[in-house]
Amino acid sequence: MILIAGATGKLGGLIAQQLSRQGEPVRVLVRADPAGSFGPTVEVAFGDLKDPSSLREACKGVDAVITTANSTARGGADTIESVDLIGNRNLVDAAVSERVRRFIFISSLGAHPTSTMPLLRAKGETEKHLAESGMVWTSIQPNVYIDLLLMGVVGGPALSGAPVTLVGSGERKHSFVTMSDVAAYTLAALHSPAAENQTLRLGGPEPLSWRDVVAVFEQFLRHAVEVRTVPIGEPVPGMPDFIVQLLTALETYDSPMDMAGMAETYGVKGTSLREFLSSTLPVQHVA
Ligand SMILES: NC(=O)c1ccc[n+]([C@@H]2O[C@H](COP(=O)([O-])OP(=O)(O)OC[C@H]3O[C@@H](n4cnc5c(N)ncnc54)[C@H](OP(=O)(O)O)[C@@H]3O)[C@@H](O)[C@H]2O)c1
Repeated sequence: MILIAGATGKLGGLIAQQLSRQGEPVRVLVRADPAGSFGPTVEVAFGDLKDPSSLREACKGVDAVITTANSTARGGADTIESVDLIGNRNLVDAAVSERVRRFIFISSLGAHPTSTMPLLRAKGETEKHLAESGMVWTSIQPNVYIDLLLMGVVGGPALSGAPVTLVGSGERKHSFVTMSDVAAYTLAALHSPAAENQTLRLGGPEPLSWRDVVAVFEQFLRHAVEVRTVPIGEPVPGMPDFIVQLLTALETYDSPMDMAGMAETYGVKGTSLREFLSSTLPVQHVA
């Protein structure tokens, strides 16, 4: 039995769907009744990362836990402290108590217990706690997702004919990755001895700058996309603060990743931005 925490979210949903399609026995940890959205073969366990006893109950009879759960798109009582730090620790401890053998944690590139960014610090603390838990562990550290930040910053405006706003020069190169690639590596890691007690850093098959991303969209849309740049440190009207902070951080380093070895080890063919757009954009946009 594989327990998935975060299955009502985007990445966890993909993982749950694919595992159950492969015929694996799957249990999802949920906080509200999912009203049959996981299909009849998926077991449901009610619980909350903030409630340790619910987690012990959910972990009963489980061989492996996969967690994508995080607080960033939630609010109220779900915070980095209560969910990403303490909640994840609760889940690791519950799994240990229930003698779970395998634990896969979706972390983030740059996670470290000494990071100055609270989310990356909480992820780093979780990785450390997990590595000391005695379970067989894998920490998955994806680079920035194509599906979310890249589609939000460039895709949304470009598709609606609005100007794209970049923070800084937009010339730093990052290996943006699709969620479907992250799901594929997670599934492969579950049964791969190569992934045992390892941190897997995941990127897409090509490093791209924001300027490169705009150029790919221009090619697809067959027209120019207007770009406005805002100097680092200046306010960006209409852009949520956390996006501004993320774009500012991405201007301070490059994160190109050579994925050839990983792709071969785990049998995952990385998805390029062009391939992602071909499979997700409405057909009238595809050149
Ligand atoms: N965005 C990026 O570029 C990026 C890059 C690297 C890594 N990541 C990581 O990728 C992972 C997947 O992200 P995502 O976008 O798929 O997340 P998401 O869609 O925001 O889903 C969040 C999930 O966490 C669950 N959750 C939140 N608080 C909980 C609690 N107290 N108890 C139980 N469950 C709780 C939510 O359940 P409810 O539906 O009940 O709220 C939901 O299922 C995250 O760990 C994220 O940090 C993201």
